[in-house]
Amino acid sequence: MIDLPRTVDFDGNKVILVDQRKLPEKLSFLECESVDCVANAIKSMAVRGAPAIGAAAAFGMALYASRFESGRENFLSGLKTVAEKLKSTRPTAYNLFWAVDRVISSIKGATDLDEMKRRVLEGARRIAEEDVESNRKIGENGYRLIKEGYRVMTICNAGSLATVWYGTATAPMYRAHEEGIEFKVIALETRPVLQGARITAFELNRAGIPVKLIVDGAAGYVMSNLGVDLAITGADRILADGTTFNKIGTYSLSILAKEHGVPFYVAAPTSTFDLKSKPKDVRIEMRDPKEVAFIGNKRIAPEGVEILNPAFDRTPPENITGIITEKGVIMGSLAEKINRLLK
Ligand code: MRU
Repeated sequence: MIDLPRTVDFDGNKVILVDQRKLPEKLSFLECESVDCVANAIKSMAVRGAPAIGAAAAFGMALYASRFESGRENFLSGLKTVAEKLKSTRPTAYNLFWAVDRVISSIKGATDLDEMKRRVLEGARRIAEEDVESNRKIGENGYRLIKEGYRVMTICNAGSLATVWYGTATAPMYRAHEEGIEFKVIALETRPVLQGARITAFELNRAGIPVKLIVDGAAGYVMSNLGVDLAITGADRILADGTTFNKIGTYSLSILAKEHGVPFYVAAPTSTFDLKSKPKDVRIEMRDPKEVAFIGNKRIAPEGVEILNPAFDRTPPENITGIITEKGVIMGSLAEKINRLLK
């Protein structure tokens, strides 16, 4: 069974985050008593994964509200500054923008300061609760895709630790495991931050789900020589036509899956859907070249060599067999079905 605390929480005074930089060696917590601390935690990937980032930002706003002392106008302008600071941490995961905007709109119509503070707190808590509920439903809607003896491939970590709890891509896995279905997960290590090795392998192993870890470049070998029955990934942002932005390597994996006839599913809550943007509007985060040049403290690339470190890529809808959401699984003509699902 899944044996992990909530990734993100708020005790009324502090935002409490599982510090994912320390995994797998140590399951420890980072306690944030300021909005700057929360923003830095998102930027430095102490907390990561689209839904977890969204919930952390919402609780960052709750932290601001709980510590604010006087003045309605000051509260509002301060909250907007906090919102902008949190939104500027990472550009690709839609849940971040969705959560911050939802908290802001929850105070519309509030007349006094206490009411505004209460609504911010409640709004943030609701986002966290709904995330867990959605993930449970994603598990329920998706677990029948996993059959006895299957080998399921995944990339990065779209697990419990990428959400408030239970995960998105892992939700069908946890649910299938609860049903007693026996299957194995093949986790791609996910260079350069190694979320697959450090986090997915950690959490599935802890839950008693057999997991085999491979380097990203071995995905083709494994598909063609050993066989893979299903691929499930998470998403940082899904557009109206089903175009999916997710961890770097997802696009390559989708092409391999297509080539080998492996069903390729994306699991995400509807809070990941951005119905307004076009592919060209979405900013792919470029991260520090040091993530590529070093492994731990050891330099592995020559000094001075040019490095490109995109954190995400774009998978076109034609490479996606289906999307597993809390409202159901959609397949086929994704654009039309997304429109119907999110109405
Ligand atoms: O850079 P990260 O670790 O935040 O990237 C995480 C992913 O790409 C996940 O697949 C995605 O956020 C979905 S998490 C449920």
